[in-house]
Amino acid sequence: MMETPLELFARLFPDSGAPRTMRAPGRVNLIGEHTDYNGLPVLPMAITRGVRALFSPRGDGRICLRNLDPAFPDTAFMNAADIAPSAPGAWDNYVKAAVLGVRGMFPDAPTAGMNLLVGSDLPAGAGLSSSSALVVASAMALLDTLGRAPETLEERTRLASVLAEAEHFVGTRGGGMDQAVILLGEAGHACKIDFFPLRAARAPLPEDCAVVVCDSMVKAEKSGAARARYNLNPRLCALACALTRAQLREDFGEDVPLERLGDLWHGPLCLTTREAEALFARAVPAPRATVDDAARRLRMTPDEVRARWLDGLPEPEGGFDLAARLRHQAGEHRRVEHARDALLANDPESFGRLMAASHESCRDNLQVSCPELDMLVEDALAEGALGARLTGAGFGGATVNLVWRNRAEDFIEAMARRHYRDRRGHTGPAPAFIAEAGPGARIEC
Ligand code: GLA
Repeated sequence: MMETPLELFARLFPDSGAPRTMRAPGRVNLIGEHTDYNGLPVLPMAITRGVRALFSPRGDGRICLRNLDPAFPDTAFMNAADIAPSAPGAWDNYVKAAVLGVRGMFPDAPTAGMNLLVGSDLPAGAGLSSSSALVVASAMALLDTLGRAPETLEERTRLASVLAEAEHFVGTRGGGMDQAVILLGEAGHACKIDFFPLRAARAPLPEDCAVVVCDSMVKAEKSGAARARYNLNPRLCALACALTRAQLREDFGEDVPLERLGDLWHGPLCLTTREAEALFARAVPAPRATVDDAARRLRMTPDEVRARWLDGLPEPEGGFDLAARLRHQAGEHRRVEHARDALLANDPESFGRLMAASHESCRDNLQVSCPELDMLVEDALAEGALGARLTGAGFGGATVNLVWRNRAEDFIEAMARRHYRDRRGHTGPAPAFIAEAGPGARIEC
């Protein structure tokens, strides 16, 4: 008979007492892609699949990691103020990020160690945030051993902000969507999340619709090869933000603080999306901007611009297409607001149209799609999905599809034939499933 995770835990850590269990969900982003790091809203849901971890405290300050999946090797490190990162892509980096995040939250807490056995029913590299689920699970486990597990909404919200920042340890400059929805999600609901400060408002999903995830079978490990491609957009958006700030200085004759693009919609400026679009068109008038153009506008040298924003990115012929990036930010912001209204009005058809438009913008303006994702979207729409789009960072991973619930199984079968078998020559069962919106991370027992 197969060993249960509890039996395995007892065998792997024979000196440990009975472990506690913790679950952190994966997430599917419904709309609002590559906006979070600019402080613009997103609309994801936590799902019932996720990471499950058994854990117990250790007195020696060591963090000992085991994974049910043999692809992730056994490893251990000391809980300390300066923890060196492992090689890029190594799974323990996510746990190290969590440990450092927790240390930053409670600098005076004793140095806790723990045994952690991790399992997951999320496909890795499918863009469902298995990595942030691991960060949250590790942090919650460590906090629990310190007697500091978050209980209130405020504590969960604070932890989500801390862990978003802490995850930069792995080298990816992600925003805060994943950690937030993993901690703040609710069954049957999507979460509209706003940033700086972080806040989540829930919106009920239409009961007569199902969310279907279709894997493109192109692995997109954010911490691996896709990392440089992922980081391109946050960097270019930060440069576009600096140019926007220079434009505001010109418009107002004085400096206007603008830390991130999302600040345009709040605080003293409080622009409408239409006003932001007009400002972007003045700030970045040509489709492409060279480093020399940017340097002139910013009154800096080209080397200063490269050092501050571009981190060694090679400049494409004719410059970077910053205008398209800005178009995506404004358009996606508008779509997220309308998508939430559509949920509140129980109007899945409008929601679906916004999803399709979001995919087009991710593909054309941000260039984060790939042929396999585009084909999945095309086939899903041809099979009657109300909406379909890439979800998460892109460059592979999965699509999210909104379909009538009573047609969901048929939809998956139709995709198995039309997409996976006929287009991709894939013969096994379709790598697609119905994702149910589940609750945020919790310690189960
Ligand atoms: C990844 C990041 C998120 C977000 C998405 C794109 O999942 O972790 O913060 O930027 O990509 O929307």
